[in-house]
Amino acid sequence: MDTPRVLIHAHRLRRRVRQLGRELSHDLAGQRPLFVPLLDGCFCFVADLVRAIHHPDLRLHFARSSSYHGGTQSSGEPVLADIPDCTGRSVVLVDDILDTGNTLSRMSAALRAAGAERLLTCVLLDKPARRQVPIEADYVGFTVPDLFVVGYGLDHGDRHRHLPHVCSLAAPDADSPA
Ligand code: XMP
Repeated sequence: MDTPRVLIHAHRLRRRVRQLGRELSHDLAGQRPLFVPLLDGCFCFVADLVRAIHHPDLRLHFARSSSYHGGTQSSGEPVLADIPDCTGRSVVLVDDILDTGNTLSRMSAALRAAGAERLLTCVLLDKPARRQVPIEADYVGFTVPDLFVVGYGLDHGDRHRHLPHVCSLAAPDADSPA
C-alpha cells in the first residue's frame, strides 16, 4: 500500500491537460468564467489547466473541501469552506478526482445557490466504480480503476503530492515512478 507505482505518466498528464485547456477556451469564449478549484488536491492540475486556457477575463477563486481527513475512505460529508459570489459567472468547479460523487454534487449545489449563471465541472480523474451519487463531470482528464491514487497534487496523509505522475498505491502491474 505504501509504494507508489506510475499509473499516468507526467507526459500524458501534460498532453491531456493542454487538450482540456483548448476545449475550455473554446467553450467559454464570450462568457465570464470563474474557476473554483478545490484545494489541496487539484493544485497541480489547476495550475497547468489555467495556463492552457486563453481567455481575456478568467477569474480564480480557491476553495477548500475535505472529506478524507488523511485516510483513504471518504467520510461522505464534504463542506465547502469559502463560497464566492458567482452572480453572472460561468462557474467551472475543478477537482482532482470524482470518486463517490458526494463532493462534486454538494459543491455544485452550493455554487448554483451562490448565483452561478452556468455551472461546469472539470476533474482530472474519474473513478466511476465507486460512485454513490449519480453525477458525471463535464470535462474529465482520465478514467481510472478503483485504486487509491496519489501524486500530481493528490495525497495520502499529505504524502506523495509532489510526484509528477499520477500513481497508484496498490497497482501490481504498473511501472515504478521515475
Ligand atoms: P468524492 O468521494 O466526494 O471524493 O467524489 C472527492 C474527493 O475525495 C478525495 N479522493 C481521493 N484523494 N486519492 C486521493 O488522493 C484518491 O484515490 C481519492 N479518491 C477521492 C479527493 O480529495 C476528492 O476531491
